[in-house]
Amino acid sequence: MKIRKWLLGILGGCLLTACSAEKQGFEIEALKYCDGQVRRTLAELEEIGSGVIDYSYMPRNIKDSLTYWHCRTATKEEWCSGFWPGILWYDYEFTGDEHIKEEAERFTASLEFLSHTPAFDHDLGFLVFCSYGNGYRLTHDPAYKQVILDAADSLATLFRPAVGTILSWPRNVAMFGGHNTIMDNMINLEMLMWASKNGGRSSLADIAISHADKTMKYQFRDDYTSYHVAVYDTLTGEFLRGVTHQGYADSSMWARGQAWAIYGYTMMYRETKDTRYLDFVQKVADVYLERLPEDYVPYWDFDAPGIPNAPRDASAAAITASALLELSTFVPGEKGAGYKEAAVKMLESLSSEQYQSRESKPSFLLHSTGHWPDGSEIDASIIYADYYYIEALMRLKRLNEG
Ligand code: GLY
Repeated sequence: MKIRKWLLGILGGCLLTACSAEKQGFEIEALKYCDGQVRRTLAELEEIGSGVIDYSYMPRNIKDSLTYWHCRTATKEEWCSGFWPGILWYDYEFTGDEHIKEEAERFTASLEFLSHTPAFDHDLGFLVFCSYGNGYRLTHDPAYKQVILDAADSLATLFRPAVGTILSWPRNVAMFGGHNTIMDNMINLEMLMWASKNGGRSSLADIAISHADKTMKYQFRDDYTSYHVAVYDTLTGEFLRGVTHQGYADSSMWARGQAWAIYGYTMMYRETKDTRYLDFVQKVADVYLERLPEDYVPYWDFDAPGIPNAPRDASAAAITASALLELSTFVPGEKGAGYKEAAVKMLESLSSEQYQSRESKPSFLLHSTGHWPDGSEIDASIIYADYYYIEALMRLKRLNEG
């Protein structure tokens, strides 16, 4: 009897190990899939250029009805140009393939001009840190470091001491009726924090902390859902109102905005070890998790009209998965394990035939929503969804390798 129980125990243990090994392995298959799609995209870009790739021409989106990338030239106004080079860096990290590294270097080099161009808006952080930031992380090329330091100084020129935050969209001050700070801007603080620790001015960290603190105080409702845009009096810095720009309503929870917040405050905790950020981000994450649909991929806005037939936003799921994997390493016990479990569910859903583009398109993912109120990039493949998807898969791989 004792032996039977023992044998059953061993068998159960083996089954459990096999199950979790199988579960843990899906990120490797998904990364291999991403690598295949990267090579398809490179071939497509070569075809567009009749055999020669234009390294300043970056994949941006594939509309629902189309099968090929819509590309845009890297300019200071095109906020998404850093994601494709960043994807190539992650793919190089996964495969170790020197050809992919060379392509990553060439696309990254197209963004060098940003380090000596006056900052157009806060997106400079996305542009330079996803490209040069990942490039430096993997190569330690001192020239890359200089580009990041110069770009961080440039981004800092948008900081307004009277308000205490970065002016996200200088072009939209009249439209919003004041200094505007958008939730997406939280991501760009990472470049400032990095620069302050890697040879840049220490005041860059002060700027990032001031921005994060003021945003924490004013850009969230009592239930920890966020406003996309906070509008402040330009002269006094007084908070005037919270509104939306890309969400459904001023009072709604725009999915990607909340995802940026989860990612941004997790990053700020990593960089500062200030437990105010750690406490706060758990509340911001929990309200997002509580309201998710069954497959863990949100509707583009949690209060969107037409739910359950409203478009999803796979990009918000990818950003949140990446953030929660990191958050899970900071939160002890069951709660931290729960964040990892939620992130894995998000990535499993995104890796299913429902969300992967597979043979239909060269992108990684379908079903992202860029700017619903503007009618643009709805239910589409969007390059930043792919960027955060591959980043999250790499984070999961690292976590599972221990
Ligand atoms: N403005 C950046 C975004 O669409 O999330």
